[in-house]
Amino acid sequence: MIKNHKNINAKISAVAGWVPDYVLTNNELSQMVDTSDEWITTRTGIKERRILKDPLLATSDMGKNAVDVLLEKRGISAEEIDLIICATVTPDMLFPSTACLIANKVGAKNAFGFDLSAACSAFIFALDCGAKYISSGQCKKVIVVGADKMSSIVDYTDRQTCVIFGDGAGAVLLEPEEDQLLGIRDSILKIDGAGGEYLKMIGGGSLNPATMNTVKMGHHYIYQDGKTVFKFAVTKMADVSEEIMKRNNLKGEDVAWLVPHQANLRIIDATAKRMSVDTDKVMVNIHKYGNTTAATIPLCLSDWENKLKKNDNLILAAFGGGFTWGAIYLKWAY
Ligand code: COA
Repeated sequence: MIKNHKNINAKISAVAGWVPDYVLTNNELSQMVDTSDEWITTRTGIKERRILKDPLLATSDMGKNAVDVLLEKRGISAEEIDLIICATVTPDMLFPSTACLIANKVGAKNAFGFDLSAACSAFIFALDCGAKYISSGQCKKVIVVGADKMSSIVDYTDRQTCVIFGDGAGAVLLEPEEDQLLGIRDSILKIDGAGGEYLKMIGGGSLNPATMNTVKMGHHYIYQDGKTVFKFAVTKMADVSEEIMKRNNLKGEDVAWLVPHQANLRIIDATAKRMSVDTDKVMVNIHKYGNTTAATIPLCLSDWENKLKKNDNLILAAFGGGFTWGAIYLKWAY
């Protein structure tokens, strides 16, 4: 008999972030390509980003570090974890999944896991997915990791993309919450595959497996039509954030924090404006890390954790390649 578990709420019970030490500044980039600190700052809001320099380390190592911190903060052992979902667009390799590698590295012997691919929206897609495993009653402790080593797929001769991305990882723990009002309350997640051509990496998959030619053509790097992506992102992220507020009867002043994907400060500002959320209630760390893809939102939560209060209304919002986009409404639970 299938039990009806629909009353189990999922809450975030701990957060952690991890970024590599190396700081790649706008000034250093301006010695590599024809750009300037002024251009990057005014167009994107980014001042510096972190880069994982050690060639022996990859996305799973950053994810492992974030998960280690998470477990220590919550005071639980890795063996207690039921599920690890890794949101990433830069898996260590196509298989095994990065979730398997992280589980092995942290010693999560009793967990199952998988990777989730939704580019810059992957963390919120994975968070929603993880929450469903809690609310079904199947899992009691779910870790959602957002980790990306973007430097492994960035062409550092292409000024249009190399200024934007950075490396990093963040992780949250999901657990059941008895208080029906706390935890993850609502989500709206969307995709539109017609947008796929504007932001993609065409090499290395089953359509264009690696050859000398794919390497020569730069097909193992990110391709981005920045203008088109910007136009969609600015509209869709605001649309979905407004929609989730409306259907939960939230006004701008009810939102304690907007936690936006950190792609471009102008996209973040436009979203906050449409939601009528004051700028001092918007988590912004893009100047420090750039766009770390699946890691931006958990890195924000980690940076702001000590400012968050129980019952705070948070709206998480993201947009990414695919196109993918969405928003999650949650009430902070600790
Ligand atoms: N430094 C200096 N000049 C640059 C540059 C750089 N790093 N990158 C581009 N330029 C130039 C362009 O060549 C262009 O020159 P031209 O007018 O002589 O042709 C000019 O700056 C304007 O380029 P444009 O692409 O119109 O700039 P923009 O204002 O759209 O900003 C992005 C470019 C990439 C910052 C912006 O489009 C963006 O943020 N897009 C969304 C990216 C994103 O969110 N991606 C991840 C998805 S989650």
